[in-house]
Amino acid sequence: MALTQSGSTGDHWSSRTAFILAAVGAAVGLGNIWRFPTLAGENGGGAFVLVYIGFVVLLGLPLVLSEVLLGRAGGEDAIGSVRKVAEHSNRSEAWKGIGALQITAGFLILSFYSVVAGWVINYVFVAGEDFLGALFSGNPLSVAFAGEDQATITGRMGDLFADPGKLIMLHAIFMAATIWIVASGVHDGIEKAAKWLMPAFFVLLVIVTIYGSFTGEFARAVSFMFTPDFGKLNPTALNEALGQALFSLSLAAGGLLTYGAYVQRDVKLAPTAAMIAIADTCVAILAGLMIFPIVFAVGLDPAAGPALIFQSLPIAFNQMPAGSLVGLVFFVLIFFAALTSSISLLEGPTAWVIDRFRFRRPFAAIIVGGVAFLIGVACALGYNVWSDVRPLGFWNIFADSDILDSLDGFTGKIMLPLGAFLVAIFVGWIADRRLIQQQTGLSGGMFMLWRFLVAWLCPIAVGLVLLFGLVPGLLGTS
Ligand code: PFF
Repeated sequence: MALTQSGSTGDHWSSRTAFILAAVGAAVGLGNIWRFPTLAGENGGGAFVLVYIGFVVLLGLPLVLSEVLLGRAGGEDAIGSVRKVAEHSNRSEAWKGIGALQITAGFLILSFYSVVAGWVINYVFVAGEDFLGALFSGNPLSVAFAGEDQATITGRMGDLFADPGKLIMLHAIFMAATIWIVASGVHDGIEKAAKWLMPAFFVLLVIVTIYGSFTGEFARAVSFMFTPDFGKLNPTALNEALGQALFSLSLAAGGLLTYGAYVQRDVKLAPTAAMIAIADTCVAILAGLMIFPIVFAVGLDPAAGPALIFQSLPIAFNQMPAGSLVGLVFFVLIFFAALTSSISLLEGPTAWVIDRFRFRRPFAAIIVGGVAFLIGVACALGYNVWSDVRPLGFWNIFADSDILDSLDGFTGKIMLPLGAFLVAIFVGWIADRRLIQQQTGLSGGMFMLWRFLVAWLCPIAVGLVLLFGLVPGLLGTS
């Protein structure tokens, strides 16, 4: 049984490949290249990677399929789609709250994601200028930042953070690019961007990884990432791994629900969902294999935290052959990944505004992106003029978090797990079973397995992680 598609956006992907590229584009982003290696580095490498992969296979993949199928079954924006499936299943309309929660999460993530992407743009400019300098001095294959010492290189990050005007300007450039693509439409904007940027991204990723494997300490990186030390696994690491799996797969933030609504009826969703999850995970692992050989080659700390790619890697490029060129390629690659993700974050709330208020797409995209921009401005100011502000300071788990970290923590630790938990309950228990099975395209044992994971494992595992996140101290979580 298929519901009629009546969403006012009325858009569709032009092919299955277009959908896969757009969804992989949404999934592959700062989460893969900035957050995953950082978390793996901080949590001891191998064990974290193993648990992460386990979460992706057992929880992430079934949830990706759940969200895409809900979107396709409903055919509207995230709220409208869940409402329609609930209605069809003779259940309360209130379940559409799942869509509202997800859209809000995506909107909040967009506001700080764009600020971080602004840092990436800054490094594209810095690396670009450096490379042009090297090129014009007749030595395009020189190391990056030749003649600079480490303090100068790492100091750039501090200088950037101390400059609110620059931070806001870079954030504005990124948000404007995101709005422009979403305003251009599903077909002419999102799909086209994914079609160009994703292949370019993959090529650049492979190039830098190969470079790292020849010039860096590849074997050590492999052993770091794949030799599990289970002693390092504590509840905090488990919590981080699940949060990262949800974030990286773009779950519970409205993006997949919304993109699902544009998928044609004849597309088989299960293999498509698997491709999205596999591609995203491969990129995360490749990102680790790209970054750690370089980090180890110059004796840097893999657990450097968020500064890993902005401070450690520029130091590494300063000591490696052709570092100037590779540094530029590296930051351009991250910029592409961030852009294809941010458009999915903006598309969720924009589609809702189009459906709900019948606004024209460009207007809706500008309004939503504009408000997200303003929230992002507060995040940027949190690094300088408002550096003392702790918006969730009353809440012990966020007591030390500045504005950006508070938004990141609140969405990642609470909204995403809650959104994923509710999707699992809704798809596993509430929605009409026949509609769901028909949308998955699965039958027999495969459907039973998938349903078991969605109805039982996801709510229990995600629920536990949510609990650990909310109640620090429980089982030693800090
Ligand atoms: N998956 C993206 C990343 O890893 O950077 C972030 C993201 C995009 C989260 C879209 C949620 C979303 F809806």
